[in-house]
Amino acid sequence: MNKEQARQRAEALRKTINSHNYQYYVLDDPTIADAEYDSLLRALTDIETAFPELIISTSPTQRVGATPVSAFQTVQHTTPMLSLANAFNEEEMRAFNVRIKDKLAVASMQFSGRFSGETKFDGLAVNIRYENGSLVSAATRGDGYIGEDVTHNVRTIKQIPLHLMGDNIPQSLEVRGEVVMSHQGFAALNKSQLEKKEKIFANPRNAAAGSLRQLDAKITAQRPLSFFAHGMGNYNGSMLLETHTQILMQLKKWGFPVSSETKNLDGLKACLDYYTDIQNRRSELTHDIDGVVFKVDSIAQQKALGFVSRAPRWAIAYKFPAAEEMTQLLDIEIQVGRTGALTPVARLSPVNVAGVTVTNATLHNIDEIKRKGVMIGDWVYVRRAGDVIPEVVRVIKERRGEVTAFVMPDCCPVCGADVVRQAGEAVYRCLGGISCAAQNIQAILHFASRKAMDIDGLGEKLIVQLIECGLVKTVADLYALSHEQLAGLERMGTKSAKNLMQAMENSKATTLARFIYALGIRDVGEATARALAKKYKSLTLIQQASTDELETISDIGPVVAGNIQRFFQQTHNLDIVQRLLSAGIHWEFTEHEENSRFNGLSFVLTGSLQKMTRDDAKQKLISLGANVTGSVSKKTNYVVFGDNVGSKYEKAIALGIEIINEERFIQMIEGKT
Ligand code: IVH
Repeated sequence: MNKEQARQRAEALRKTINSHNYQYYVLDDPTIADAEYDSLLRALTDIETAFPELIISTSPTQRVGATPVSAFQTVQHTTPMLSLANAFNEEEMRAFNVRIKDKLAVASMQFSGRFSGETKFDGLAVNIRYENGSLVSAATRGDGYIGEDVTHNVRTIKQIPLHLMGDNIPQSLEVRGEVVMSHQGFAALNKSQLEKKEKIFANPRNAAAGSLRQLDAKITAQRPLSFFAHGMGNYNGSMLLETHTQILMQLKKWGFPVSSETKNLDGLKACLDYYTDIQNRRSELTHDIDGVVFKVDSIAQQKALGFVSRAPRWAIAYKFPAAEEMTQLLDIEIQVGRTGALTPVARLSPVNVAGVTVTNATLHNIDEIKRKGVMIGDWVYVRRAGDVIPEVVRVIKERRGEVTAFVMPDCCPVCGADVVRQAGEAVYRCLGGISCAAQNIQAILHFASRKAMDIDGLGEKLIVQLIECGLVKTVADLYALSHEQLAGLERMGTKSAKNLMQAMENSKATTLARFIYALGIRDVGEATARALAKKYKSLTLIQQASTDELETISDIGPVVAGNIQRFFQQTHNLDIVQRLLSAGIHWEFTEHEENSRFNGLSFVLTGSLQKMTRDDAKQKLISLGANVTGSVSKKTNYVVFGDNVGSKYEKAIALGIEIINEERFIQMIEGKT
């Protein structure tokens, strides 16, 4: 065979193999025997070995996984990958339907009522780019704007075409969909992991994520990943695609799997029936889903509807209710928080709740335990809703066997100090203060947190290490640490030590409000700390304030006032404050004049800003004395808008409130207008 013959033969083989791949992996309907398929693949491999210059990245032989990478590159999505608004009941679905009708009426359009109904796959969203039909790159969704480059990994997923099939191949195309793992694939993977004594995955979603995000794509290649296309990003081609249904049909023709549960639905009633039908058959589906998705089918109407913040107005995810499962409560343990609060936590016999293995659940406090009548040894229902901490819903009294009552310990399980319950409080607290290791770690973590002193890089593990080796007892010791001490710690290099030293140095320039918040006085959150700073403008004056005086501040009542006063009466607290100030923590005393510039003005921020985060903008405004609220009312003075503005913008216009763009806003805060 000469080179030209080899090239032609390779091309023909690739076409044949690709179509068999499609038959097998996408249609689940193989038309040749496995052995036949293997011999075709071998023939192609032989040619490519003899003529390596003929190997192309889209050859079916290249799905084995490229050489490992050391880290994922980040990729900025050309069109953001948005999220979906949620509905949890019929009423919210009705409201969604009405919103669409109203909004389209404003644009002089009549809603046809036609939706595309789909399942909401529980996997990992990816964006796959094709140029002139060839797969060129793939990225995870990430935060919607920036994702990770997983091209090598995606290439190994056999359901995803390396080259588009059929006609009308577009110049460029972005396919969006979900990488998932079937129940069957998940079971097989965990079985083989167990045999190899390797990590077991808690649910198919985690297994899919862990498999896709492998630096070594050879591992991804061995994992049973599948893919469902659910939309398109950028598209530059000759086909006119006027409905979402047409898009999905075309993607199917180009070789992508589209869920067979996808249906055209006319009107709200059909959507609600679809939801019930899918929910009833949920356990029979091959993949995990956590709800269904409805999308306005007409692309013209989608465009007219547009977006609110990060989600389209033309689509909604109707989520299934949080799952409940039965299990046995083995024990109740106590966790100690920053303020010494003792939280009872249920240790459970492991149970799978909607795909996640649950072994602990919060019981909140002793009153909750009494109200629910929970005893150690009981059978209970456990609920998990989304990402929130699982909780014990109720006891199954009928199953009660031998049980023991839970008693709140009278001394702290961590430090042994006394435990008390203050009148009127639901929680018990450890009186150990910062001499209690559990409280101390949490207190230091709070001190360093972003909204407090903002010491970048000082996390829980490091704090535990610093405490354990005796370098840090209280927050005041942080600023006395030397570069050598830090660099000498386990898992800490010179570079990280240097970065941390710099972060601590930077944190010294702060505001009075942040400093007060960082001290972690009980019930003194960000807003209270700001109110204190605004009124007194001096730490000394706050320390000297009587409870009566403190109570004149609007959100401070007798309990909080008492907490503040008590905090500053303790000599060890005063000592810590003194040491922190001597270490160089400072704030501008001119804050007072600065502060007044925006005094009494009320701002609302909407949309995403380019030059700063919304949170930074908010902090800045507050530092200038303004109020920042979440919703627009007649009392609002200014609405600052960024990209993808939502209803707040419209409301501001309706109420005739001044709206300003980011540029103008920056001029304003810099005092230029
Ligand atoms: S459409 C602008 N369709 O849900 C529309 N998303 O909450 C954006 N998802 O990031 C997505 N199944 O990962 C769409 N049938 C489906 C989906 C689906 C699962 C995921 C997707 C997205 C997230 C949004």
